[in-house]
Amino acid sequence: MALTDSSGRKINYLRLSVTDRCNMRCLYCMPATGITKCDHGEILNYEQIVLLAEAAVSVGIEKIRVTGGEPLVRAGIVDLLAMLANISGLQQLVLTTNGVRLATMAQQLKDAGVQRLNISLDSLRPEMFTTMTRRNYLAEVLAGIDAAERVGLPYKINTVVMRGWNDNEIIAFAKLSQQRNCTVRFIEYMPTLKKENWQSLVVPSVEIIEKISDIYPLTPVVDSVLAGPAQEYNIAGSSGGIGVIAPHSDHFCRNCNRIRVTSSGKIKTCLFGADEFDLQPLLRSENVNIVAAQLRQLVKGKPPCHLLKGGNLAHSGFSMAQIGG
Ligand code: 5AD
Ligand code: SF4
Repeated sequence: MALTDSSGRKINYLRLSVTDRCNMRCLYCMPATGITKCDHGEILNYEQIVLLAEAAVSVGIEKIRVTGGEPLVRAGIVDLLAMLANISGLQQLVLTTNGVRLATMAQQLKDAGVQRLNISLDSLRPEMFTTMTRRNYLAEVLAGIDAAERVGLPYKINTVVMRGWNDNEIIAFAKLSQQRNCTVRFIEYMPTLKKENWQSLVVPSVEIIEKISDIYPLTPVVDSVLAGPAQEYNIAGSSGGIGVIAPHSDHFCRNCNRIRVTSSGKIKTCLFGADEFDLQPLLRSENVNIVAAQLRQLVKGKPPCHLLKGGNLAHSGFSMAQIGG
C-alpha cells in the first residue's frame, strides 16, 4: 500500500535517528560545548523503534535509514539493525555514519543486514578535517572506508561544502570518487544552527557542478524511486560518480519522499518545518495498528515545501544530531 501526501508525493523513506549523541562536533551541526542531550529515559528503546519501523513498513515505507547523532555510538546498535533488517516488506536498510567506529564494525554491520552506508567526510586534509569536526579522526574514518570496501558494503561519501573552509577540496573529492569507484555527494550547507551571515557559507550546487565539469565530463543519472533529493552524475570512463544535495533549490522539496523520526520519538514530516508530533505515547501502547494509523494521518499534513528559499529561516535553530540529517 502506498503512502501519499497531500501534494501527491509518494512517501517511502523513513530516516530514523537512534541517538542524538556523537563522537564528533562538526561545526555546522553542533556547538563546540553546551549541547543539550536527551536523557536516556527520553530516547526510544529498541522495542519501540522496531514497533515504529514495523508500523511504517505496514503503511508503505520501503527504505529505512538509521542515523544519529552517530548511530554507531549507541550500545547494542548491531542487534537493533539486525531486528530492523528482519522486518518483512522492508526493501532497504541503510545507515549514515561518521565512520569513526567503522573499521571495527563494518563486518558486523554487513552481517546484521545493512545494505549500504553513507559516510560523512568533509575534508581530506588532516588540519581542515580537525577544524570542521573539532576531532582528530581522519585516519580512523579513512580506515573505516577501507573496511567497508573490504567487507563489501557499498557506500557513498557525504561532504558538506562550506565556503572558505573546504570548498577548495571539491576537485580532490571528485578525484577520490574516481580512485575509490564510489559516489561523493556534496551537500549544500544548511543553516540549522542560527548563524549570522549563513548565506555567505553556502556554495550553490550549480557552482560545484560547474567546477567539476570543467575537469570531468558529467552525465546526469536518472533518479531511482528510492533515491532521495540528490541529483547524481556519472563521470565518463569510471564507475565512480558525484552528486549534489541542494536544499536551497526547488528540486529538493518536489522530490521529497521522506519523513523523519528523532531519537526521542518525535516525527517530523519536513526537516525545516516547525511541526513535530510525539509518537512515544503511542509506541508505549505496543499496538502497531494505532501507530500505523497515526503515521498515515501525519503524512497527509506534510508541508509542500520548506521556507529556506529567499534566505528565510523558518525555524528557531536545531542540531542535525537531534534530527538525523
Ligand atoms: N548542513 C548540511 N549538512 C549537514 N549535515 C549535518 N548538519 C548539516 C548542515 N547544517 C549532514 C552531515 C551528514 C548528514 C547526516 O547530515 O554531514 O552527512
Ligand atoms: Fe556528529 Fe554527524 Fe553532527 Fe558531525 S554532522 S557532529 S558527525 S552527528
